[in-house]
Amino acid sequence: MKKLNSYILLISISFITLGCNSTKNSGNNELVDEIDIKVEELIKEMTLDEKIGQMNQYNGFMDFTGPTPQNGFEAVKYENIRKGLVGAMLNVHGVENVRAVQKIAVEETRLGIPLLFGFDVIHGFKTISPIPLAEAASWDLEAIKKSAQIAAEEASAAGINWTFAPMVDISRDARWGRVMEGAGEDPYLGSLIAKARVEGFQGVDLTSEKTLAACAKHFAAYGFAEAGRDYNTADLGTSTLYNTVLPPFKAALESDVKTFMNGFNILNGIPSTGDAFLQRDILKGKWEFDGFVVSDWGSITEMIPHGFAKDGKEAAKLAILAGSDMDMESYLYVTKLAELVKNGEVDEALIDDAVRRILRVKFELGLFDDPYKYCDLERETATIGKQSFHDEVLEIAKKSIVLLKNENNLLPLQKSGQKIAVIGPLAADKTSPLGSWRIGADDETAVSVLEGFKKYNSTNQISYAKGADLILNKPLFTTELEINTSDTSGFGEAIQTAKNADVIVMVLGEHGFQSGEGRSRTNLDLPGVQQQLLEEVYNVNKNVVLVLQNGRPLTINWASENIPSIVVGWHLGTQSGNALAQVLYGDYNPSGKLPMTFPRNVGQLPLYYNYYNTGRPVEPAPNQVFWSHYIDESNDPLYPFGYGLSYTSFEYDQLEVTNKFSENNVVEILITVKNTGNTSGKETAQLYIKDLYSSVVKPVRALKGFQQIELEPGETRTLQFLLTEQELGFYDNSGNWVVEPGTFEVFVGGNSKAILSKQFEI
Ligand code: BGC
Repeated sequence: MKKLNSYILLISISFITLGCNSTKNSGNNELVDEIDIKVEELIKEMTLDEKIGQMNQYNGFMDFTGPTPQNGFEAVKYENIRKGLVGAMLNVHGVENVRAVQKIAVEETRLGIPLLFGFDVIHGFKTISPIPLAEAASWDLEAIKKSAQIAAEEASAAGINWTFAPMVDISRDARWGRVMEGAGEDPYLGSLIAKARVEGFQGVDLTSEKTLAACAKHFAAYGFAEAGRDYNTADLGTSTLYNTVLPPFKAALESDVKTFMNGFNILNGIPSTGDAFLQRDILKGKWEFDGFVVSDWGSITEMIPHGFAKDGKEAAKLAILAGSDMDMESYLYVTKLAELVKNGEVDEALIDDAVRRILRVKFELGLFDDPYKYCDLERETATIGKQSFHDEVLEIAKKSIVLLKNENNLLPLQKSGQKIAVIGPLAADKTSPLGSWRIGADDETAVSVLEGFKKYNSTNQISYAKGADLILNKPLFTTELEINTSDTSGFGEAIQTAKNADVIVMVLGEHGFQSGEGRSRTNLDLPGVQQQLLEEVYNVNKNVVLVLQNGRPLTINWASENIPSIVVGWHLGTQSGNALAQVLYGDYNPSGKLPMTFPRNVGQLPLYYNYYNTGRPVEPAPNQVFWSHYIDESNDPLYPFGYGLSYTSFEYDQLEVTNKFSENNVVEILITVKNTGNTSGKETAQLYIKDLYSSVVKPVRALKGFQQIELEPGETRTLQFLLTEQELGFYDNSGNWVVEPGTFEVFVGGNSKAILSKQFEI
């Protein structure tokens, strides 16, 4: 196929220009210039040790307000802050603590450079939003942005000025526990969500005390951990790197994200922390990123066990050469860099460049004007947990819920005259719904499903039985969970409760700490004795609504075949139970769509909708084996990407494609959507394309647009989508953006299996 060379040129020029602007789009160039001058002046004052100090980030301890530690590593950290050898802390929060540490940096060091305070504000600080994967299911970019905004407002009131979010890693493997922290499997949706989250955290004014510097992580390909095992090798092709992994990072950059974090993984044999191709050539080179890159926790020293660096000194050298500006918790920059500079192995210009980047962010946050701007006790008290945050996280929680199945309209529940049994190990749990990255929140602060039902304004009779425990030890963020695999002693009570009910709401799934970092699984069934409990309850009463609480796609084949109604309730955060009650009663008609494929079988993983066709995609004749398939499982997912039902139904019709590409580079697509049910509802109309043949093979289909519409019963609306070079082009294997002529097929519908299609040529 012949390439459209003029397009390549044109697009790569605009691509570069865009990159340029994006790094300086603080909206005020004078301010940027002024900051640059101040940074240069400050750097001139700094000794080599002080510069390296800025590149050092320590994990905190929470007794900064107590007596100064005398021994151990805490004493060293304390002393180093005092010597000006620390640029940032993490995990120090609360106004009193932050103020106490900031005071040392500002008042006791020679130059008084304020510290950054980083924290994993991933889905809320104290008031917890749905996990990011759940929020992605809302496909509601404004709501996602709002959620990041309130997280920033609350966290910044507790002294924090930098969040390690958003995680924009695309992942296709539900075994990887960190899928809960991302936006799912699709780079198009993932890029829009990356933008929404960065804009939410950083706002339009980074100097506002209600915003935080954001961090796009983990650069890059951490989400491709082999076999879904956390921290594992990523080995992927160039086309996937450019077209799937990098776009959400680019989107974050174009939204002016201030920092990037590299990762624990190796990519093509190079640890991303020591990868100059990723950090220097792409990020700081081609993309012209002018913020700074922080390592992941200890990822500089981890280059030793990776077999990349011989020792700590070499690890520090490789990391700085590759473009890692700040060392989080490896202690190697602060101990090795000065020597490396002095003996000529590292050019001091590289240190200056890193420090320049770090100081610029501090200036942009306004920390030099007021280092205590996030340290207002009154604001902290008035802000943390305020009612409006609860109202807002409730809204986003409702939007995140996905209805997978609803036979015989068992849902919505009636508001009176029903006896409802709430059953399951997670039904009354007030901690698990907070999810995994909720380290600023207190245990037992989520509204449980049981509470949600009891508080809901209905005259129904609500009964409850736990049925069984899911976890036998105290669930903690850092330690292994002990799953109950044998104790069924509570089944009897659950079965009795089920027998006496009209409808059973069964709350099963994963504990909040079963997904997240270090929580990979090889089996995605309902853990422990929950499947058995579900089947035994179903045996005595078939009117079961299964409410899943999950941090990732699960294999729920039996439930999918037998249980009439299934709702994906994720880990929805503080307002979890209220959101679920309101959706199950029909006050909010479910509108979520899966941002990640639900497999039938773990053996299918990685499984994703935008795969490449093989040369043998279909069965050539009955019973022939030589085609790309499994002999013991279908190739199809249980529920595809983009899937989600409503209490009403939608029909897509009259797909029209008007190809004006040769005149004004636009293909116009019109589609009519009708609400064919009896209740109003929200639909996310999705547009996918397939490039039928091209110089680099394209996925069988790729999301290129979506629109959310609310329709009254019987209402019809015609939607217009426009495809431009932006949607029709791709990155070739050298990372150049190209648009090729050829035949495309467009599909429009309510999920990635949409069948309504038409072809066009450009
Ligand atoms: C995670 C990062 C996180 C950092 C700081 C690491 O273990 O991979 O995503 O931001 O810890 O808590």
